[in-house]
Amino acid sequence: AREGSATLRMLREKKDKGMMRQRFWELGGSRMGDAVGVKKDTEREKDTEETDENGEVDYRKNTGFADHVKSQGDNKSSEFAKSKSIKQQREYLPVYTVRDELLNVVRENSVIIIVGETGSGKTTQLTQYLMEDGYTDYGMIGCTQPRRVAAMSVAKRVSDEVFGTLPTLNKEVDELGGKVGYAIRFEDVTSEHTRIKYMTDGVLLRESLRDPDLNMYSAIVMDEAHERSLNTDVLFGILKKVIARRHDLKLIVTSATLSSETFSNFFGGVPVFRIPGRTFPVQTYYTKTVAEDYVMTAVKKVLEIHFNSGPGDILVFMTGQEDIEGVCGLVAEKIMAIDGDSPPLLVLPMYSQLPADMQAKIFQAAEKGVRKVIVSTNVAETSLTVDGIKYVVDCGFNKLKVYNSKIGMDTLNVTPVSQANANQRSGRAGRTGPGFAFRLYTDRQYREELMANSVPEIQRTNLSNVVLLLKSLGVENLLDFDFMSPPPQATLESSLYQLWVLGALDNTGSLTTMGSNMSEFPLDPPLSKMLLFAHENGNCSDEVLTIVAMLSVPSVFFRPKDREEESDAAREKFFVPESDHLTLLNVFLRTKQHKFDAQWCAKHFIHSKGIGKAREVRAQLVDLMKQQRLGIRSCGGTWDVVRRAICSAYFYNSSRIKGIGEYVNMLTGIQSCLHPSSALYGLGYTPDFVCYHELISTSKEYMSCVTAVDGEWLAELGPMFFSVKESYASRITKRATEERRAKRMEEEFKKAKEEIDRKEEER
Ligand code: CDP
Ligand code: MG
Repeated sequence: AREGSATLRMLREKKDKGMMRQRFWELGGSRMGDAVGVKKDTEREKDTEETDENGEVDYRKNTGFADHVKSQGDNKSSEFAKSKSIKQQREYLPVYTVRDELLNVVRENSVIIIVGETGSGKTTQLTQYLMEDGYTDYGMIGCTQPRRVAAMSVAKRVSDEVFGTLPTLNKEVDELGGKVGYAIRFEDVTSEHTRIKYMTDGVLLRESLRDPDLNMYSAIVMDEAHERSLNTDVLFGILKKVIARRHDLKLIVTSATLSSETFSNFFGGVPVFRIPGRTFPVQTYYTKTVAEDYVMTAVKKVLEIHFNSGPGDILVFMTGQEDIEGVCGLVAEKIMAIDGDSPPLLVLPMYSQLPADMQAKIFQAAEKGVRKVIVSTNVAETSLTVDGIKYVVDCGFNKLKVYNSKIGMDTLNVTPVSQANANQRSGRAGRTGPGFAFRLYTDRQYREELMANSVPEIQRTNLSNVVLLLKSLGVENLLDFDFMSPPPQATLESSLYQLWVLGALDNTGSLTTMGSNMSEFPLDPPLSKMLLFAHENGNCSDEVLTIVAMLSVPSVFFRPKDREEESDAAREKFFVPESDHLTLLNVFLRTKQHKFDAQWCAKHFIHSKGIGKAREVRAQLVDLMKQQRLGIRSCGGTWDVVRRAICSAYFYNSSRIKGIGEYVNMLTGIQSCLHPSSALYGLGYTPDFVCYHELISTSKEYMSCVTAVDGEWLAELGPMFFSVKESYASRITKRATEERRAKRMEEEFKKAKEEIDRKEEER
């Protein structure tokens, strides 16, 4: 197995010390979107040195491969987008050559599988073809995406394509959210005018709860089926039934890989339509030795390409926000540190938590003479196609959600990619011309250590959300459900168990009232439990709604570089010493007091956009509460009931104190610490018991979002775990009760003895 990244560990330690996660685009304010390396006056005296003061290699030195790369001519493709009209661009896509043939096959079949290389136009064109062929006359065309980023950005593109050539007549219909819209969790950008709707697979899955026949749709494109995301896999089973009931519905399943037989067979041998490819050769390079540090190796490779190779943009595959920002920051830093003129480079990160306007930048062509380097998660592997990429750098890892039975929850693990992933990644370099792919691993590793394909998500993650949903859809025996790849029985069982623990299922495995209420919310089961418990037992749904909303958006705390201390001090003013959850509530309430004023937010180092998002989420949850006729009540200032509601949902994430800031999980025995950013940290207040939202591992295991709870609450709210035997608190209570009982017995015994003595005396 390959090593992780020492650079990343170093960056993490810095960050942990510096407490909050630092976003690359916050690092230098305007740096994001500006090319680095543009210098006016330059001295070239250092040009001859092999290494700089830190003993690092001079990347401007040619290290071998570059000579034949240099002469490969200009990269015309990014110019292409500028010079051609949208109509011409559409007609240039490979799928256009088979448009009519494809529409014929759709007319004749209710289900078809479409296979085509990434970038051939599946995602952006199929929906439009269907609209042009009249399918929107009696319903919408839905297109599902496993990733929210893809749903948003593709909808924008298609909206532009649909109206790009025409003058704007009716703004309401022509803009995104008009004829073309999208919906992701907590964000519905559609209207009565919407005919083409892009959405995450999770959104369509939830829609099937309300409308089991999906009558609003005349056609559904299940895009990116090869990804085998959990929700897409479940949708397969659900849509197969819908198709059997609705003969007017068209279902199109698209895949970027050739392994389409599984899909075809699942629907009983439906036709597979192949879009002829148009790809250019990609030359693949491996490292000679095993790379110890994939972050540093990637940084070096990017600089080496930049300084030694001909024009063409670079796409780097990393695993997630953390290493992406690491690479972006280091590349920018190194270029700035170079004395002498360095050709300008535009460094752009791409990951799901990045604000939408920053995400859009990756599609924009850079200024003339500026090379673009995009450092992305695997969203750029097949979901998004960026034109003009000539060089791909593949770190060989991705982040996979894996159920960790040791700690009883899903964790995101950095795992080697599969050979299929690696080939997709390399392929990105050959879309518009011959390209080069640099794999930061050896060819032996590729052949011997990488799996051919990755394991579908349904077979490796927690399924409690899915199980709750299927139960709500009336699937009583989950083993009867038509899964394309059935999940392991043990996972199903542990999900059933988790739902039972939360009170969503009864002893026979049937949905309880609590469970069916929980399924109405697009939230993880513990969060919906918290909300419903607050409603039923604490009269504090008003407060918990805010907490749930704040937990559903990225952190609202802003911590700019060079103003760390100032911003930390500002954050501390919001602290509620016994709880991070209550701190979030406090932030929201204080912002509200100031009418959500953006200036006030900025002054107090709060992201006002984040608060705005939390307000939207909250408003939607309020609607859902109202639909269920659940009144919203506030507990006023007595926030102990709120902590009890938190405990009711997270008692299985509870820890007992072990040392200063150190805790041990009461069920798993896993040790973890309070995160330095926690309100409970360093304030001298160390409660015996805490519940936490999640565990994050950076340089250590940290509990994130922590609340102090009473030992008795744990025993009361989680009796299946904290029987008198297991919980320290209840053990004390029990001992006290026993002592009391013993004393009472002793007294009664004494009394009885006295009675006997008295009677005897009387006799
Ligand atoms: O789905 P598939 O991979 O087959 O292709 P696509 O996503 O429909 O991409 C077709 C074309 O649209 C590519 O040339 C993309 O670069 C372009 N596109 C874009 O310019 N902006 C987007 N947000 C999405 C796609
Ligand atoms: Mg696509």
